[in-house]
Amino acid sequence: MTLNRRQPPLLEVAKHGLLSSRASQPQGIVSSFLFSRSGFLSVLALLLLLLLLVFLPLLCRRPVSALLYSFSLGEVDDGSVSRWKDYTVARAAAFAARNDTLIVTAVSEPFLPLLNNWLISIARQKRQDQVLIFAEDYATLYEINRRWPGHAVLVQPAPESNAAHDYGSQGFFNLTSRRPRHLLQLLKLGYSVMYNDVDMVWVADPFRYLDGDHDVYFADDMFAVKPLNHSHNLPPPENDGQTNICSCMIFLRPTRGGKKLIRSWIEEIQKQHWSKAAKTNDQPAFNCALRKTAKEVDLDLLPQTAFPSGGLYFRDANWVKRTQGLHAIVHNNYIVGFQNKIQRFKDYGLWLADNHTDESPLGQI
Ligand SMILES: *[C@@H]1O[C@H](CO)[C@@H](O)[C@H](O)[C@H]1NC(C)=O
Ligand SMILES: *[C@@H]1O[C@H](CO)[C@@H](O)[C@H](O)[C@H]1NC(C)=O
Ligand SMILES: *[C@@H]1O[C@H](CO)[C@@H](O)[C@H](O)[C@H]1NC(C)=O
Ligand SMILES: *[C@@H]1O[C@H](CO)[C@@H](O)[C@H](O)[C@H]1NC(C)=O
Repeated sequence: MTLNRRQPPLLEVAKHGLLSSRASQPQGIVSSFLFSRSGFLSVLALLLLLLLLVFLPLLCRRPVSALLYSFSLGEVDDGSVSRWKDYTVARAAAFAARNDTLIVTAVSEPFLPLLNNWLISIARQKRQDQVLIFAEDYATLYEINRRWPGHAVLVQPAPESNAAHDYGSQGFFNLTSRRPRHLLQLLKLGYSVMYNDVDMVWVADPFRYLDGDHDVYFADDMFAVKPLNHSHNLPPPENDGQTNICSCMIFLRPTRGGKKLIRSWIEEIQKQHWSKAAKTNDQPAFNCALRKTAKEVDLDLLPQTAFPSGGLYFRDANWVKRTQGLHAIVHNNYIVGFQNKIQRFKDYGLWLADNHTDESPLGQI
């Protein structure tokens, strides 16, 4: 009987409101779906979802895929740590990048406290969301992603972890040798990358110092004070024939020049075999690569005041006072040993990982 009933006049629909169940008529499945309560709500929900998908990424400056992915990462799922094994660099980079730019470090488990200190200092500049951590062992990968899903990735095969922590050891050399390969992978995917060693702390946002449109930016590792107006070219070699650029803080654009330098760095590392006598790390190879590619790559030496070495910052209080307000990243080098680094940060008021863990995306470690 209902099949033969005429559709009520539009007025009646209006009077009873769109939610009236009387609107369910055989006259057209679409209109009856639209006018039914659940149909209307579904359409409304669909519209809202569409609006959300269009505008949220604009607000966050992130692709929809990354957003959807972060929703799915939000699921409470402590049991399935194994899925992080298959988390690729491409997915991790798409998830963390902002404005096609990533802030990157590489760490193994003993360095988690230093990582936390570095992260808090970055959170204070409101840039923690774009951090991607290369975990150099599975414990680190799982621990970071459990606390802060999606921000750590591991490039297989994982290095032998137990031997990798002493500066100058073969394990340390093996570990640092992985860095340029991580960076090249991100450049190939089209991201700009700021790489930091984990024993650094931000005291201001370093991005404000990346003037111009150069391929690669880096800082000098020397401790001698330079004039404020020092040149921004690659410095000439010192007495030993080497430049002393730090491989600890590098900003790279995904240009031909940027990739050329990193490929050259990888080649130089492969040439330098580790030996007990040489105890080399990745920095001399980085300097060789800079010299070799200087004619083809647009290089920029950053101001010493913004990126001082530990040999300068922690040993020349007068210089620190004179240049107050100009510092961006302080490097806790020119000191060996993990506990010594932490103690020195504490002595200089740069240790945030005890009393300010509420500011860390990882919490208390
Ligand atoms: C985004 O990246 C471009 C190119 O690196 C840069 O010029 C611009 O300032 C960045 N914008 C923001 C908001 O960081
Ligand atoms: C370092 O790498 C070399 C060559 O791949 C390997 O033979 C050696 O066992 C590694 N050593 C450590 C301590 O990781
Ligand atoms: C820096 O300033 C000094 C003194 O004003 C000047 O002699 C020197 O040429 C400048 N150096 C550079 C690299 O501009
Ligand atoms: C943390 O706070 C305690 C208590 O105020 C203080 O004694 C300690 O020095 C602080 N630690 C650091 C590293 O600032």
